[in-house]
Amino acid sequence: MARTQVAVIGAGPSGLLLSQLLYLNGIDNVVLERQSREHVAGRIRAGVLEPGTVDLLLQAKVGERLLSERLVHDGFALGFAGRSFRVDLKRFTGDAVSVYGQTEVTKDLTDARLAAGAKLIFDAAEVSVEGFDGAHPMVRYSHGGRTHELNCDFIAGCDGYHGVCRRSVPEGASQSFERFYPFGWLGILADVPPVADELIYSNNARGFALCSMRSLMRSRYYVQCPLDEKLEQWPDERFWDELRRRLPAQVAEALVTGPSIEKSIAPLRSFVVEPLTFGRLFLVGDAAHIVPPTGAKGLNLAAADVRVLFQGLTEYYRTGRSEGIDRYSEQCLRRIWKAVRFSWWFTSLTHKFSEDPFSHRLQLAELDYLTGSEAALASLAENYVGLPFERTDCKAAPSETSAVPTAPPHR
Ligand code: APR
Ligand code: PHB
Repeated sequence: MARTQVAVIGAGPSGLLLSQLLYLNGIDNVVLERQSREHVAGRIRAGVLEPGTVDLLLQAKVGERLLSERLVHDGFALGFAGRSFRVDLKRFTGDAVSVYGQTEVTKDLTDARLAAGAKLIFDAAEVSVEGFDGAHPMVRYSHGGRTHELNCDFIAGCDGYHGVCRRSVPEGASQSFERFYPFGWLGILADVPPVADELIYSNNARGFALCSMRSLMRSRYYVQCPLDEKLEQWPDERFWDELRRRLPAQVAEALVTGPSIEKSIAPLRSFVVEPLTFGRLFLVGDAAHIVPPTGAKGLNLAAADVRVLFQGLTEYYRTGRSEGIDRYSEQCLRRIWKAVRFSWWFTSLTHKFSEDPFSHRLQLAELDYLTGSEAALASLAENYVGLPFERTDCKAAPSETSAVPTAPPHR
């Protein structure tokens, strides 16, 4: 029967980042991923990284390509009432965000894991988790036509919203909080130069629009659309036309269009489960929380969970102390709810919820207030670049594959 210290379920950014940081701290782990490597690598997701996430990726020794290929943005623009207003992140926070696709982050992490000879098992089917309420958690999965059993000290549920780990939590042991939004985001990727040097979040009477990018030659655009919209109803020409209508005139004039290389519709929801810890099972990233993409918090929140969990596990294996992992849930939930609140607020401010002109006037009044108030702009900027991490974060400086501490008795 195979054994490891931490079984990581899911090879999305959460699972891969956790696995890499544990490895750098000498903690043995196995990653089990249901999909193929190609499928995971091919996912198109957002691409704005907070400075805290960049730090953690550097700590995980996967920051080289990020540093050389990212676009550093000291600000972004708000479009509304036909005008465009720049939010100066640098002035209000001293910080900037990095535009670097989540697809690239996942690629860098996968490459690093495989280069280090990680036990990264793709196409692991029928994963089940058990015994995490006791002292000997175990994971079962089938791979290569055989069923495998993996004993471990802890299970990290990094398997996303549709994963098995949260669903394996006993009935009544958790509480879910959910908010659905009555619209989705229709997004396209196109190899055309971005319309502006920085992102533009546009509030418009026809609905929200976002101008983003992946590089100086690859643009990512989104328009808010009804949830039941079908892709076939949106040929490229209609998309470009609708986008133009939702942007301030001088931005619309500068728009360079071209054939889309990817097009998809994503629903918007806010979701949090409490608590995040069930005995020796920890829920991480999208397995525990979902935010609408408006605030670009999804990946950054997942990275923040990983930061707290890997430090807690490192402390546990190094010292036998479990304060860090005991506080994982409470500490992360404080940050999660602040990011959920920000993402909900930013979505409420910039999206069209009804045909009610009074609501739109309220949004315009709030945008007018916001863009005229230093205090409000500072609040927006600090939430956008990512709120500071709690002081309790013990900086477990990664040491090259330091000796593997044995598992001290834990509860
Ligand atoms: N067994 C094994 N793997 C599973 C299972 C299962 N039963 N269910 C899901 N998975 C895998 C998925 O195939 C996926 O690769 O878990 C991984 C979860 O990855 P993500 O959904 O990307 O979640 P996470 O790693 O937490 O990343 C969060 O992703 O969706 C974005 O906006 C979100 O940026 C955020 C980031
Ligand atoms: C993206 O580039 O895909 C993106 C950027 C910012 C967001 C959401 C998505 O808020």
